[in-house]
Amino acid sequence: MKVGVVGLGYVGLPLALQFVKKQNQVVGFDVDANKVASVNAGHSYIRYIESAEIADAVKLGRLEATISFLRIKEMDAIIICVPTPLTKHREPDIQFILEAGRSIGYVVPSLPTTSVLMPKSMPIVLSVLGLG
Ligand SMILES: NC(=O)c1ccc[n+]([C@@H]2O[C@H](COP(=O)([O-])OP(=O)(O)OC[C@H]3O[C@@H](n4cnc5c(N)ncnc54)[C@H](O)[C@@H]3O)[C@@H](O)[C@H]2O)c1
Repeated sequence: MKVGVVGLGYVGLPLALQFVKKQNQVVGFDVDANKVASVNAGHSYIRYIESAEIADAVKLGRLEATISFLRIKEMDAIIICVPTPLTKHREPDIQFILEAGRSIGYVVPSLPTTSVLMPKSMPIVLSVLGLG
């Protein structure tokens, strides 16, 4: 399966590597060109992730990263892992999710199935995908 992970931060990068471990091909999409370059160069920017794990996945051709959303149309599944900081009223600010949705929508105007998941449902999803 080709999995697109949008947002390669503390959640997105480890999740991308889990999908790689299960023999999926993963493309990470991020607006941060430094993170994209680091992934493609096999360098970790997250303390508990070894650079070697990223480098091996890249060398095997199972992981790559890009700032271009054009390749989103190749993906069988897209997982959005962008920030949701709290507003001053302590409500989630969804501007990053909307922006990611717009970037995807320019390339793939209608998706066959769309599911919105809250973080607490992730253990169930991961177990269904064989990652739990
Ligand atoms: N970090 C945690 O421990 C944790 C735990 C549970 C839930 N979450 C949730 O997971 C989500 C992601 O959190 P995180 O900690 O990974 O955030 P993060 O800030 O570490 O990473 C987010 C990434 O998204 C990228 N990004 C921002 N806008 C983008 C866009 N429009 N398109 C593509 N990439 C974009 C950023 O450049 C960054 O690399 C948030 O909703 C957070 O609340 C995080």
